[in-house]
Amino acid sequence: MLNMHLSHKNGNNQIPNAFFSAPIFYVNGAPHLGHLYTSIAVDVMARFRRMIGGLTYVSVGTDEHGQKVAQSASEAKESPQKFVDRMYIPFLNLVNKCEMKYDIFIRTTYDEHKKVAQHFYEKLVKSKYVYEGEYEGWYSSRDEAFYADTDVKDGKALNGSKVTWVKEKCMFFALSKFKDKLLKYYQENIESILPYSRYQEVMGMLNANLPDLAITRTRFSWGIPIEQLPGHVLYVWVDALTNYLTVLGYPNNEYQMKKWWPNSVHVIGKDILKFHAIYWPAMLMAVELQPPKKIVAHGWWTVNGHKMSKSEGNVIDPFALIDEYGVDEIRYLLMTEMSFGQDGDFNEKRMNARLNSDLCNELGNFIQRVMMFCYKEYEETLSLFENLTNVDIELLNQSNAFLNSAIKGMENAKIHIYLSSLRSLVRLCNVYIDEQKPWKLSGENRKRVLSVLCEMVKRVAIFMEPIMPLKAKSVFALLGYMDNLDKTSWNELLKVNKLQKPEPMFTSRGK
Ligand code: MSP
Repeated sequence: MLNMHLSHKNGNNQIPNAFFSAPIFYVNGAPHLGHLYTSIAVDVMARFRRMIGGLTYVSVGTDEHGQKVAQSASEAKESPQKFVDRMYIPFLNLVNKCEMKYDIFIRTTYDEHKKVAQHFYEKLVKSKYVYEGEYEGWYSSRDEAFYADTDVKDGKALNGSKVTWVKEKCMFFALSKFKDKLLKYYQENIESILPYSRYQEVMGMLNANLPDLAITRTRFSWGIPIEQLPGHVLYVWVDALTNYLTVLGYPNNEYQMKKWWPNSVHVIGKDILKFHAIYWPAMLMAVELQPPKKIVAHGWWTVNGHKMSKSEGNVIDPFALIDEYGVDEIRYLLMTEMSFGQDGDFNEKRMNARLNSDLCNELGNFIQRVMMFCYKEYEETLSLFENLTNVDIELLNQSNAFLNSAIKGMENAKIHIYLSSLRSLVRLCNVYIDEQKPWKLSGENRKRVLSVLCEMVKRVAIFMEPIMPLKAKSVFALLGYMDNLDKTSWNELLKVNKLQKPEPMFTSRGK
């Protein structure tokens, strides 16, 4: 099947559209490796979806209210608003710097968001699942979370966060009433939480005690005020979660809501699973909106085996990291080094070794060898020969096989598997070169082999794009193609320029 089309847009439209959301980041400190990883993971999934012909809508932004941010502003001796106006900027810079392509960057202090969150709260009140009460118990401002007695030991939550005892008047959401509905929903939608281990975790939480949730706070004021309730501000997680509706123009933009909400994919870290997989769907059910279609939770980074934290002094600065390695290199390395869903350890020695083996020796070398050969002999990239040998066809078919398995793998957010399959494909290309020895061939045979190789460089560049968008672009430029990836069928790319002389694509490190 040589003419397989990557794009299903004009075909039978099997690729569903998707709304990919990144978590919105707390602005109490500077961005770190975790923020970079989440942003890249969302971007890779969305780019892949576009590569195979789906339409996407991507959101990211900053979570600017709450006790934690208010405390940090007070420590910086600034008003909270002034503080967040300054602190959100590095997050915006980071998502731009890592080449994340997003449709909207939302800040929860925007008026439009405040209105949506207030509207959402009113809908909750109308749903009759909200009642007045008093919360007395543990609260962690680091996690912006309430903890039960059983989850606290020696003044700390089980995850190590410091907790304090609070007592405040508030409004409650009758979360407990949603236990059975949520259980039923998840029993019927097993693939709505990925990976499966996180699904099991959520089922475990649902089978345990599910107390009602305080959804307003009265002990401080840095939050979205509630008109009818002077002195109350919205609990920061209700405020933050509704960002996923604000970015779609809820409640006024029915078109956007219809188009994207049924296809929503929330990409999150494992620490915020409960908020997304329990609180959020329950509140959505209360206001008669569908729960998110998918929640995809990734693991956490440790640094050389240790938890990354300010007190350990090992927080990785994502800007420095990108400057050091290059944006595409770091995107590749982070996505490869962490098996999606599991925790990963950031270890520079191992990353350097991977950079040298995968990117310099295998991928870079493959592209360099082929393109140098062709550049020396031809003006333009070679079109694939009509008469091919079985060995040629076998290699080309490998890229179709790769694509088919990639589609399945990425449905389950297995980015690391996508990359290991791509590595295998590149290895097969290098084996083909070694076995065919184009330098020993002449005439039509030589041209045929090089035409297969040009085709494989093109296909590999297409597959690289979700992970390494800039390098993919530069490979298209080498080949003389217009890098119009919206038109990605193997044969639709337009030759517009002459072949360019290749320079080594990756620089080895740490030797
Ligand atoms: N503001 C909330 C999210 C609200 S979404 C409606 C929040 N913000 S955060 O800034 O603390 O975290 C943002 C993302 O970074 C989360 O997905 C979190 O899991 C991720 N990470 C934070 N530290 C991390 C690591 N050490 N490793 C990997 N990701 C981690 O939570």
